[in-house]
Amino acid sequence: MRTALLLLLATVVPWALPLVAQPAAPLANLYDRTRLSLNGEWAYIVEPFGRAIDNRNIRRDFPADQQAQPGGPLIEYDWEASPTLQVPGDWNHQDPTLWHYEGAVWHRKRFGAEVPDGMRAFLCFEAANYIAHVFLNNEKLGVHEGGFTPFAFEVTDHLRAGADANSLVVAVDNTRRAHQIPSKRFDWWNYGGLTRPVWIVLVPDTHIHDYTVRFDDTDGDVITAEVVLDGPDRGEQPVTLRIPELNVEATATTGLTGVATMQVRPEGLTRWSPEDPQRYTVSIEAGADRVEEPMGFRTVAVRGTDILVNGEPVFLRGISIHEEAFDAQGRRATSPEDLRALMETAKGLNTNFVRLAHYPHSEQMTRLADSLGLLVWSEVPIYWEDITYNNPQTLGLARAMVEAMVERDKNRASIIIWSVANETPIEEHRLTFLRTLIQDVRTLDPTRLVSAALKSTSVDAAAADGAGGSVAAAVDPNRRIQLVDDPLGAYLDVLAVNTYVGWYGTAYPDAIQHVEWRTPFDKPMVLSEFGAGALHGHRGDKMEMWTEEFQAYLLDETMKVAVETPFMRGTAPWLLKDFRSPRRWHGRFQQFWNRKGLVSETGAQKLAYDTMADWYRRLADQWPSPTTGSDD
Ligand code: GCU
Repeated sequence: MRTALLLLLATVVPWALPLVAQPAAPLANLYDRTRLSLNGEWAYIVEPFGRAIDNRNIRRDFPADQQAQPGGPLIEYDWEASPTLQVPGDWNHQDPTLWHYEGAVWHRKRFGAEVPDGMRAFLCFEAANYIAHVFLNNEKLGVHEGGFTPFAFEVTDHLRAGADANSLVVAVDNTRRAHQIPSKRFDWWNYGGLTRPVWIVLVPDTHIHDYTVRFDDTDGDVITAEVVLDGPDRGEQPVTLRIPELNVEATATTGLTGVATMQVRPEGLTRWSPEDPQRYTVSIEAGADRVEEPMGFRTVAVRGTDILVNGEPVFLRGISIHEEAFDAQGRRATSPEDLRALMETAKGLNTNFVRLAHYPHSEQMTRLADSLGLLVWSEVPIYWEDITYNNPQTLGLARAMVEAMVERDKNRASIIIWSVANETPIEEHRLTFLRTLIQDVRTLDPTRLVSAALKSTSVDAAAADGAGGSVAAAVDPNRRIQLVDDPLGAYLDVLAVNTYVGWYGTAYPDAIQHVEWRTPFDKPMVLSEFGAGALHGHRGDKMEMWTEEFQAYLLDETMKVAVETPFMRGTAPWLLKDFRSPRRWHGRFQQFWNRKGLVSETGAQKLAYDTMADWYRRLADQWPSPTTGSDD
């Protein structure tokens, strides 16, 4: 009976459930490897019903290199006759018919690639939003889910020699689904496609696949490096770490699994900090492979309600940022110029901190933060209440996203906070879900802080102060207590709260003056969002909604409360620039733009930009006791 059953399964499974490979673990430090760029012009075919992706008899339907042959099957597509788009780049802004499109778009690139003897080849995607089905020379390599993290496939044995001999076909599907991350509702544009660069990376048969370099000063300055080799000779292989400017060189030998760990005590190391983003060239060599990258060394910790960078209390003078370029129409930021423009505009606010919302930004963005001296909050898009917190598939996806985010950027000095959520509901499944993610983050990276953007509850002052009568109300009869007592707070290092007092609910910028923040947790808190919409150029009274004056006034008043709150250790107004959102319909003031930017979609500064720049200039000089806001 058992044999018959197994035979039955053997005959059914290959067709019923096409078992596709999952991506290989991405290679560390793509940028210092031998790379063939697959960026540039790709042909594309729009497939609204996504039939070819789901079709079991996949060979007949998916776009490939076949041409219709007399007597052969009907083939109703032709790559040579298809339109083209630029990769990296979302499809939305490159084809007017795709601006609102959600579904599958098939992309195709022909290229030549020689894999020299003794080398291996990896096909590396820095991101694709949202699901990517990858085919090389008519063979399905696998599928990746998640719109903002890298993935890779080994293609050593798939590549063909000769110019344009290879055909890479990628079906990207940006359809929103309830069980996905993010789920079906979010306040940003659902830009679909190959939104970050695509490479063929060549490495020696046995190569440096990953490495983690950590700094600690508990017992003097110590740098620890763990290096992971992959390949037939990974065992018993000498690995050498070098940091020439620190006269550091150390060699260790890998064990049978290809892992080597070394520890060095550098002399005269200058810590990385926002004020002095000192970086050192760190190189790692093993056999025929050698990689290097600039790295900073610093410590970050919490102590009571303080956030410490290199042992010193800091105030995070921040701004929230979406990864969207300055552009009159709206598009994903993709080029180094796009990203630098965003980060320079952030620096212009006298910031030392950026909240890269609501998903892992590109690796080029976090490397920029290292070089510019900006502390980073990096987060996964566990966003709002729609996430299916009781769905094991969703949890598995979230865990993979957290791992990919941490693994990619674990050597970035700028990153001090990993965030696992934004404005998620206070309920049991969500708490269990997020506690699992927090545990994963702490296992993957015990050196950084964990946070999440929480919601607060407004409570009556008298109720908050209990039987002794309301102390708060005695201070101010309109006192309003904003309580941050989300049970998730017990598992975080840094509390963070999004507030829109004065915009949502009570569109009255003075309302914030009556607010007092309270929390039962003895931890530092960051205002991770606050702000108001303003149309650039719309001027008027500061009490008139949508004016630049209203926005600037609300930010100014919120900053006054923030700096007076004893446990507040950071502010990140929402947000740097106006950004596209399908949820913002006001015909005059929005037109599918969320207008809370301190600058417009093209970078035109609103009054609020100077308001925040002035605040942060004073905070940089005077924290913890800056003079309060600008004279009204
Ligand atoms: C929300 C959310 C943001 C959103 C913002 C707003 O709280 O976190 O993603 O864009 O507030 O309403 O503008």
